[in-house]
Amino acid sequence: MQNFSYYNPTRILFGQGQIAAIAGQIPAGAKVLVTYGGGSIKQNGVYEQVKTALAGYQWLEFGGIEPNPRYETLMRAVDVVKREGVDFLLAVGGGSVADGTKFIAAAACFDGPEPWDILAKHAEVKAALPVGVVLTLPATGSESNTFAVISRESTGDKLAFGSEHCYPRFAVLDPQTTFSLPSRQVANGIVDAFVHTLEQYMTYPVDAPLQDRLAEGILHTLIEVGPHTLAHPQDYAARASQVWSATLALNGLIACGVPQDWATHMIGHEITAEYQLDHAQTLAVVLPGLLRNRHEEKRAKLLQYAERIWGVREGGEAERIEAAIAATEAFFESLGVHTHLSLYGVKDAAQAPQKIAARLEAHGLTQLGEHGHITPAIVSEILATRI
Ligand code: NZQ
Ligand code: ZN
Repeated sequence: MQNFSYYNPTRILFGQGQIAAIAGQIPAGAKVLVTYGGGSIKQNGVYEQVKTALAGYQWLEFGGIEPNPRYETLMRAVDVVKREGVDFLLAVGGGSVADGTKFIAAAACFDGPEPWDILAKHAEVKAALPVGVVLTLPATGSESNTFAVISRESTGDKLAFGSEHCYPRFAVLDPQTTFSLPSRQVANGIVDAFVHTLEQYMTYPVDAPLQDRLAEGILHTLIEVGPHTLAHPQDYAARASQVWSATLALNGLIACGVPQDWATHMIGHEITAEYQLDHAQTLAVVLPGLLRNRHEEKRAKLLQYAERIWGVREGGEAERIEAAIAATEAFFESLGVHTHLSLYGVKDAAQAPQKIAARLEAHGLTQLGEHGHITPAIVSEILATRI
């Protein structure tokens, strides 16, 4: 196992009715800004529960944070924070609201002229307002990690940053708040968590058997409960397992001591920025092609994955690897998440390999993967197989 440093301060409040517990987690006397998205929380009763829980606080709200949250919108929230003297942020929604709120928290304390530098120039985040999250969409792990991915309308960029100052102080995971999700978002969440797990697993062996087993446990759970929770959205037990799987897939635990390959995500962010696909849709497109392209470097883990996850034991190595990748692709498709660009109605899909490679080049993302071997030229090769 490789050396690592692990720290995760997010308190998890898991289960039915846990929104009521947030009052005890926010400092008395804090002035709270509740942030949310396009309004789903006002239709499914979550907003009312939050309102009740905040009865003892002075609070105001900022709605309208979009999926793939926009810098322009978030900077309006920063103005509110500064004008009103807000000192605690409560994000209520999916990954986009959580990410957007982490950025608001960092931007409100940023001392440079242009908070976009946090994303574009990796300007250091020296402080952030405290954030709590009420999560309504299990997918990103944002509720218990340092990361946020922000889009800028004026430039068409979608960029990520991470800072320990942005760890949420607490996250409420009440599976019931997710019952109102459209099936497309439930399926997206399963694929996102699955790919997060694979990007921390599918590299090369480093004698980390516990990390492997933890990752395999998450993958097995998603394969087992994913289709069930999609077909039976009100089944609490299955949804609870999906929610907890998604958090554990990206809260830092399974990353300890192992190499990581975030190439699929980096490529995916550019596809969302260029073609507006949902985040998980981009992952379902890229990952199978990336695994085929990198099968030499990932051979040992691909064979382990084939055997332990998909029970593939027959045939030569190349055959077993292909069977595992095909099974992964079929799993995504079975959830209704397509694995080729043209199935999303992308019109100039034939141009996508060059366009996405050029975007990565422009962002300096030219050495991706666990070895830094995935260049824009290789990305172009990968995407040529995903049209
Ligand atoms: O905006 P509202 O009205 O709330 O509707 C949302 C939105 O339209 C809806 N929704 C959420 N909870 C609901 C609900 N509808 C009904 N009932 C509920 N309970 O779902 C739609 C999508 O929401 P969004 O937050 O965009 O989805 P998700 O959680 O998948 O987040 C995606 C964003 O997270 C980033 C992605 O790039 C993307 O921008 N990621 C963040 C990561 C992180 N912070 O660690 C890692 C991920 O890899 C990812 O990159
Ligand atoms: Zn993701």
